[in-house]
Amino acid sequence: MLNKIILTGGAGYIGSHVAVELLESGREVLIIDDFSNSHPEAVARIGDIANGNVELLERNLADPAHLADIAAAAKAFGADGAIHLAGLKAVGESVAEPARYYRVNVGSAMALLEALEAAHAKAVVFSSSATVYGALNDNPVTEDGKTGPTNPYGRTKLMIEDMLKDVAAADPAWRVCNLRYFNPVGAHPSGRIGEDPNDTPNNLFPYIAQVAVGRREKLLVFGDDYETRDGTGVRDYIHVVDLAKGHVAALDYLANRKHAGAVDINLGTGTGYSVLEAVAAFKRASNRDIPFEIAPRRDGDIAEIYADASRAKELLGWRAERTLEDMCADHWRWQSQNPEGYKS
Ligand code: UD1
Repeated sequence: MLNKIILTGGAGYIGSHVAVELLESGREVLIIDDFSNSHPEAVARIGDIANGNVELLERNLADPAHLADIAAAAKAFGADGAIHLAGLKAVGESVAEPARYYRVNVGSAMALLEALEAAHAKAVVFSSSATVYGALNDNPVTEDGKTGPTNPYGRTKLMIEDMLKDVAAADPAWRVCNLRYFNPVGAHPSGRIGEDPNDTPNNLFPYIAQVAVGRREKLLVFGDDYETRDGTGVRDYIHVVDLAKGHVAALDYLANRKHAGAVDINLGTGTGYSVLEAVAAFKRASNRDIPFEIAPRRDGDIAEIYADASRAKELLGWRAERTLEDMCADHWRWQSQNPEGYKS
């Protein structure tokens, strides 16, 4: 049983939802987070929602000076394995500052591996991304599709996947699951935790939500001349609670698995929605106007991508259950109850 779990990046948007699901599954959780893009208040609220407690170690995993105490903490906690989400995640920033992205993302993963090795806790679930597929495959995309990320952020994800595969191939005691997330959106139905971007949101849902709540004037829709049903980009949006439950299922899978090695698994719904469909759904859920304007295509965007989600069903016994309406309603509950995020 993988019971005692180190959760890196556990105070962040996805991490906080994973923490709740881990506690609710009866597991013990040690969050390692440096709050560089997250808030301590999220940790308090995780405990409230799940009616339990997480341990917290405030450290930057990428800083070599912290390696020894991270390894010591992993041992003292009695870790069985880790879910690794800590990292930088802004595509545009990664193009401008590639060295920092490689250092922080790849460096954090390497540090975590060393700490787990020292604690004899050789199991990792890694937060990878559909971004590793680039635009090279027909939809729906299976895990055997070609990989070819188009920016440094995506390349760090693929490098870490490959590193974990090499480690698992060299030592059969390692159990590795790379979860390739499609587009996580929504929030916990309690409205207590959700996405709280530091600056102007890069992603569609937090931007729409800030327009709906009146923090921003209008949404720019990046391109309406793609070869899709309404000309706008199509993505596989997945409710963050479904996504979080996928991590718990991945731990169960690794704990019971008979064979060694690493496995890649898509976490998506299998359905794509366009930008305009997402805007219309959010408008219905929030009962607010969402003014938008068509703008040029964003560099690096692709027309359409959605998952083949059958491997997750087959191996993890997991599938996404929440609809686009649920995603919008829950995202809106979080945004309207916390208009300025955790600062509210
Ligand atoms: C983006 C990243 C991806 C990352 C993921 C994390 C890029 C090119 N890709 O995915 O690597 O893993 O976020 O969640 O940045 N859109 C607008 N207006 C906006 C924002 C977005 O029209 O203000 C459109 C985009 O053109 C796209 C769709 O909304 O068609 C979704 O965009 P976004 O939420 O940024 O996700 P991805 O680009 O799919």
